[in-house]
Amino acid sequence: MIIVKTIDIFSFILNLYDKRFCYTSLERELFVNKFSEYKFFNENFKLLPDIFSKTDLNANVVKIFSDEVLDKNFLNNIFMRFRPFRKGPFSVFDIFVDSEWKSYLKWNRFIDKIEPIHKKTVLDIGGGNGYYSFRMLGEGAHEVFLLEPYPLFVSQFCIFQKYINAKNIFLLPMAFEDVELKSEMFDTIFSMGVLYHRKSPIEHLEKIFSLLKKGGELVLETLISDTDVLFPKKTYAKMNNIWFIPSCDMLLTWLYRIGYKNIKCIDISKTTNFEQRKTLWMNFESLDDFLSSDLNKTVEGYPAPCRAIFTAKK
Ligand SMILES: C[S@@+](CC[C@H](N)C(=O)[O-])C[C@H]1O[C@@H](n2cnc3c(N)ncnc32)[C@H](O)[C@@H]1O
Repeated sequence: MIIVKTIDIFSFILNLYDKRFCYTSLERELFVNKFSEYKFFNENFKLLPDIFSKTDLNANVVKIFSDEVLDKNFLNNIFMRFRPFRKGPFSVFDIFVDSEWKSYLKWNRFIDKIEPIHKKTVLDIGGGNGYYSFRMLGEGAHEVFLLEPYPLFVSQFCIFQKYINAKNIFLLPMAFEDVELKSEMFDTIFSMGVLYHRKSPIEHLEKIFSLLKKGGELVLETLISDTDVLFPKKTYAKMNNIWFIPSCDMLLTWLYRIGYKNIKCIDISKTTNFEQRKTLWMNFESLDDFLSSDLNKTVEGYPAPCRAIFTAKK
């Protein structure tokens, strides 16, 4: 059964959905599968005032600002109800949303090493609250498609988009495996921080391959290990949804076997507590709580998180 569509966050999401995709699956996802999870966010989203705003999407801190006189305490209180904020930072009407991750560090590692995305059609798989998608718009992308299945992050995205109001960003609030996209549709596909969550990483990379235009580029960011493949017995850094962590060479081989060309590893960085830490806006455990006291191992005794970025062409 499809429930009324007049409830704000739902109609907001429906409006951000691209008409080129199948509406039935979106309606099923929103109104049947996830309706109750969105209820709390919807109540609070409806409280947000309309504000005439301007943006700067081209800086480390994604900025939304306004000349209007605003009740910042009220806004701060509402935004806080959408915690935890993992990705950012954002500055929204001078409220500094200090996310767990300084996401610009990752962005700055790859942006000058990938094919320019100016005027390109791009897909951001597992885009979370949209920090990178907004930066892609700031970089001049023609259209950005954001795929994110988790209601909290989708709701955070809706807050930012309410005030950024970009016309060329489309939200697909679903898992990558569940969405049907046209083949050879994208110039660039970003899969960042998703591969190790997949039980079938090869299928993930194959599906991306089918969606890339000929000559299109995959930008892949994932955890790597120093053995061929690390497959955690139960949890890795207290996360119970981590499956395959390949070595850099193994990942290059996976990409090669699928048919990617010009495969390059463009960055390897150990995650530090400068980049990932607890803040007022993410008040749960963070990196320091996942590592041994010398910070070299996870609490389970695996090597501490090290992440790599790869580019590969179709
Ligand atoms: C570790 S976060 C990475 C977020 C961001 N891409 C980044 O690099 O910082 C993983 C994100 O992928 C989303 N995700 C997990 N499984 C997914 C799937 N099957 N399809 C699409 N997104 C997924 C999660 O909800 C989460 O927002």
